[in-house]
Amino acid sequence: MITINEKEQVFHLHNGRISYLLYVMESGQLGHLYFGRQLRPEGSYRHMVEKAHRPMSSYIAEGDLYTSYEHLRQEYPTFGTSDYRYPALEVQGPDGSALCKLEYQGYRAIQGKKPLPGLPATYVENPQEADTLEVHMLDPWRRLEVVLSYTIFRDFDCVARSVRFANKGEETLFLDRAMSLSLDFPDADYETVQLSGAWARERAVKVRALEPGVTAVSSMRGHSSHHHNPFLALKRKSTTEHAGDAYGFSLVYSGNFLAQAEVDNYQVLRVMLGINPFGFRWRLDPGGAFTTPEAVMAYSPEGLNGMSAQFHRLYRSRLARGPWRDKERPVLINNWEATVFDFDEDRLLRIAQKAKECGVEMFVLDDGWFGSRNSDASGLGDWQVNRRKLPGGIGGLAEKVGRLGMQFGLWIEPEMVNKDSGLFRAHPDYILQTPGRSASHGRNQFVLDFSRPEVVEEIYRQLHALLSSADIRYIKWDMNRSISECYSAAWPASRQGEVYHRYILGVYDLHRRLLEDFPDLLIESCASGGGRFDPGMLYYAPQGWTSDDSDAVERLKIQYGTSLVYPLSCMGAHVSACPNGQVGRTTPLDTRGNVAMTGAFGYELDLGRLGPEEIETVKAQVAFYKENRRLLAQGDFYRLLSPFQGNLCAWQVALPDGARALVMVARILSEANGPYRRLPLRGLLPGRKYKVTGKYLSYEAYGDELMQFGLMLEDKSSGEVRDGSGPCRDFSSQIYQVDAIS
Ligand code: GLA
Repeated sequence: MITINEKEQVFHLHNGRISYLLYVMESGQLGHLYFGRQLRPEGSYRHMVEKAHRPMSSYIAEGDLYTSYEHLRQEYPTFGTSDYRYPALEVQGPDGSALCKLEYQGYRAIQGKKPLPGLPATYVENPQEADTLEVHMLDPWRRLEVVLSYTIFRDFDCVARSVRFANKGEETLFLDRAMSLSLDFPDADYETVQLSGAWARERAVKVRALEPGVTAVSSMRGHSSHHHNPFLALKRKSTTEHAGDAYGFSLVYSGNFLAQAEVDNYQVLRVMLGINPFGFRWRLDPGGAFTTPEAVMAYSPEGLNGMSAQFHRLYRSRLARGPWRDKERPVLINNWEATVFDFDEDRLLRIAQKAKECGVEMFVLDDGWFGSRNSDASGLGDWQVNRRKLPGGIGGLAEKVGRLGMQFGLWIEPEMVNKDSGLFRAHPDYILQTPGRSASHGRNQFVLDFSRPEVVEEIYRQLHALLSSADIRYIKWDMNRSISECYSAAWPASRQGEVYHRYILGVYDLHRRLLEDFPDLLIESCASGGGRFDPGMLYYAPQGWTSDDSDAVERLKIQYGTSLVYPLSCMGAHVSACPNGQVGRTTPLDTRGNVAMTGAFGYELDLGRLGPEEIETVKAQVAFYKENRRLLAQGDFYRLLSPFQGNLCAWQVALPDGARALVMVARILSEANGPYRRLPLRGLLPGRKYKVTGKYLSYEAYGDELMQFGLMLEDKSSGEVRDGSGPCRDFSSQIYQVDAIS
């Protein structure tokens, strides 16, 4: 999958569908040629370099009035040369100069893909699945070695990139900016798509047209954040969900990030993705090395949905890991919204018992079971059970839950501490804070300094003991505040710029150690809902709590936006009580179920408070989910109607062979006497006959009809219902089943 034209020094990564081309410039710097739909592997493509004499430019060599980095598309631009755009790399030496010039040294092409030290990354299961090109560059003046690594996958239209730095000289260097990816496009006629929001309304789809200057999203909160996801896409104005060029850039990282698109005054576009340079400074001593997180680039000529399909397939099968990657996830019930901190063993067991009767498979005990935790003001850091609430301990409760025929799961928040806790009283210096300055709290809690191995060790020790003490199959790993006043007592002044990154490395390390000890553990990541919903966490936790907002209507947008990058199998989605705790809205139970089951499904309420009819609905939901969970988790996902654009929202999941599909359609507000509607489906076999089954409708049609003319939606909107099918109402939805007839 890598063709190298040695004479022309052109490297061509291709997999039959996409091409990525780079070359060595005369100056020795690495240039970019092309990324997109596959070009034929033979040929040099060096002629794609565009350069002209332009006044007010700085030229690399005396006598040459054409070659300026300002006008050349590069692979990994550096600071201080004739390029005036944002660089990918900024490195300062002891003389105070930040100038860096990289020169090509050679390359290595290898089969397969190497892991990244201490970092989550995509992987292969056998070397035939991918090829990796490593290009070795050197700043001879600084003796800084830079290895750019590119992996092309056989089965996914994605290229994974990362960069390794090694100080081969004798002086200490400081990396002030070390992006994972930089990519120069020949034109800027694109719109950017970003996923932005806030707590309880994460990952809304926002589209902006590019203009000269910088468009960026970022996080400086110490976690990837509710506010912006570490992702950016480019699409042409004419690109739709299902047609047209779409490029996606996704960072496999959970800390501060920057995703940026810069348009210069010649309409050249530079995309950049990596650790946020703001607040970052890595000391690279002689002999030292640093590796950036991985960035994944996807391309599809089949619109944004085509781009998402590449991310879904790669992340579901070659980023998520462990036995839970492909296993059917248990239907769970979580007690948080039912009890908050107010529970005892009896109350929990009653909730579990009722859930068991409905077919739920796992009971998850949320916050409030440990230390002195009766509100959010105390207890974090003390991971020992509160015997007043649970006299038999976690082991006793897990056993009783087990006797009901259910698995047991538990909530933890390992990275945090309350001042009112045994851990803080013993180690007040364990938190991130700037000496001599006040420290802000979030939800009455402080952030443990996970950049320090001894702090991670202390929490590891406690959690190892906890997980060894009971049959705990699942943990919900929460993280409920952002970092502020970031400073570590353990590191010298010259290393304070490393603390945010070292913190995340500590978080990854704790995940790694616990999973090595308890390989069958299912981890669901959470950060006040979706505050750290990113590919980095997905490597350790195959599912994440998508948002604290469990209202079905809000969730349409949240899950639709999330699906731009993330597969359904990783989107934790629960049915909760009404009126909804976040927005006060009352939605029908079937809509809550329909939206939640197109995710990693569960319940978050006291089922004992439902009437008999509602209990029957819950039983039917659980049974339907169980029958379909493989399809829902592993099938191809299609966004059909956007809740950001209208009153209807629809998505579809289909078996890759087109034999069965489920179509979720929600109508947000009811309407009187509306138009007839058809919904063109995707991913079916045109010549195959299907049976369509809705709540009140059933008919047969060929795949071509369902994809061209569309699925005929049942619409009880005439304002007068005569067929006994119940009134038209707000927030209605249904799941249609589409089955090939053999
Ligand atoms: C966060 C989570 C919730 C719940 C609470 C418990 O807000 O997102 O789901 O676990 O913490 O304190």
